[in-house]
Amino acid sequence: MNKSSQRQPSPQIAAARLKKLSSLRPTLAIALGSGFHHVLTELRVDRKVSCAKIPGFPVPGVSGHAGELIFGRLGGTPVLVLSGRAHFYEGHPMEQVTFPIRTLAALGIRDLLLTSAAGGINPDFRPGDFMVLTDHINFMGVNPLRGPAVPGRTRFVDMTRVYDRQLSALLFRAGKSGNLKLRRGIYLAVSGPSYETPAEIRAFARLGADAVGMSTVPEAMVARQCGLNVAAVSCITNPAAGRGRNRLSHAEVLKTGERVKGLAVELLKNFMRYYGETDNTWRRVETTTR
Ligand code: HPA
Repeated sequence: MNKSSQRQPSPQIAAARLKKLSSLRPTLAIALGSGFHHVLTELRVDRKVSCAKIPGFPVPGVSGHAGELIFGRLGGTPVLVLSGRAHFYEGHPMEQVTFPIRTLAALGIRDLLLTSAAGGINPDFRPGDFMVLTDHINFMGVNPLRGPAVPGRTRFVDMTRVYDRQLSALLFRAGKSGNLKLRRGIYLAVSGPSYETPAEIRAFARLGADAVGMSTVPEAMVARQCGLNVAAVSCITNPAAGRGRNRLSHAEVLKTGERVKGLAVELLKNFMRYYGETDNTWRRVETTTR
């Protein structure tokens, strides 16, 4: 064991703490990214827990949203909401960035929806569009699974199909019922925190990326190692560098998120409704070690 893994409490300890705080036992968790936080106004809260109170949880510092874990119901369906994620660009080690995901698995969560903001690379994409991830390119410069072997987990994790088709299909159904045409595409993750140069974006386009962002991929990869089914959706908040007329700014990202927050809420509410209606026996159980 190296030093950092000695310092990091186990996800089982964090999960045991959380289990004491709410009797709700959701099978689905949603991580809220920029542009999706408004959904909290629709959540019937059972219990809110500050990330600072959970052993091992990183405390996010940038997004303007307090790091909280919220047990509640959305559209009548129990859900665990991660509000305010810790980003790699804040300086947290990957082990900490992805610790909440390991805790979710230890809690018995089986399905995970990751939401985020992203810059549009695909020329057909417009700010305010939503893109369901079909695959990703990890350009963060580090693999979040790197490190000492995790007991009970495969080290060499298959990434052939990170984003679950059936869970993603629920997103498309949810989009349709809200008259929202969802895009689909490949998300390329960078470490940030600077935005990209136009030359980088041209290179990423050649690599096959449709959108670029600074999150999602570490969580998705660790979730796959833990056997969770993952779906992800990004709000395209801006044309990526060199793709639009404006310079890039965080203010623009937040402004677009604010403009389409109603659509984001509708999408997540409808997703939850369909998720709640679904007979969950269709799900493959890939990993028995949680
Ligand atoms: N690049 C990287 N991350 C982002 C962007 C972007 O243009 N927009 C929102 N998150």
